[in-house]
Amino acid sequence: MDAVLAVAAGNPACSHCGAPISGLPRARERDGYCCEGCYLAAHRHRSLPAGADDGQCALGEALVAALDARERETGLHSKRVACHTLVLARQFTADPQELQQVYLGALLHDIGKIGIPDSILLKEDALTAAEWRVMRTHPEIGHRILAGAPSMTKAAELVLSHEERFDGTGYPRGLAGAAIPLWARLFAVIDTLDAITSDRPYRKGLPFDAARAEIVRQSGRQFDPKAVDAFVAEEIALSEMVELKCGAGPNQAGFSGVQS
Ligand SMILES: [Fe+2]
Repeated sequence: MDAVLAVAAGNPACSHCGAPISGLPRARERDGYCCEGCYLAAHRHRSLPAGADDGQCALGEALVAALDARERETGLHSKRVACHTLVLARQFTADPQELQQVYLGALLHDIGKIGIPDSILLKEDALTAAEWRVMRTHPEIGHRILAGAPSMTKAAELVLSHEERFDGTGYPRGLAGAAIPLWARLFAVIDTLDAITSDRPYRKGLPFDAARAEIVRQSGRQFDPKAVDAFVAEEIALSEMVELKCGAGPNQAGFSGVQS
């Protein structure tokens, strides 16, 4: 049976926050959620084993909310890619501290954009070559923001390396292959999954299978084959997570849900 289930009639309260979920027909694992934010919060709690620090994760989420406010962003891209990257990382480690670093690094991957001038960060037209040079400093700015905190060392490494590509064509250091931290190689696959399946001003988000085809096509080029194998191994869980995602809150996309 499809793991994405209709919310049972008579159980209309959000499993995370308790708010009524009238009119929102979809849920996962027999729990219903009022919005994607609650779904992702519950997913984070389930995915991080005992020993991870809830307070530190909440602090990271507050920091990314500051970036979202700056970018006038109301979506859940950062929390979504953090939860999805955890799904892959759990294939490689069960260590709670390590998984917490993966969560925080993926969550805060673009935090360096907080240091990019408004004229570039919020520009609606295409960036010039000079403006792109400034924009491409955001991994290093993010690394500087986080690296001073001893508890964020590995998260900061992911932030610094999140725009690298397996074939060496990424930035800022042009690292290739295993020189790129593993968690950043996993994140790169997930960031592309979210980009392809999300709505853009000029097109609707594409289905999971379109993203899967592109990710597999880029194995050994943009992406580490090991990361692509991890992605394929979790494709059922990830496709459900994509199906449940929404644009900016309740009553959109997955949560507006046409029942299957
Ligand atoms: Fe980035």
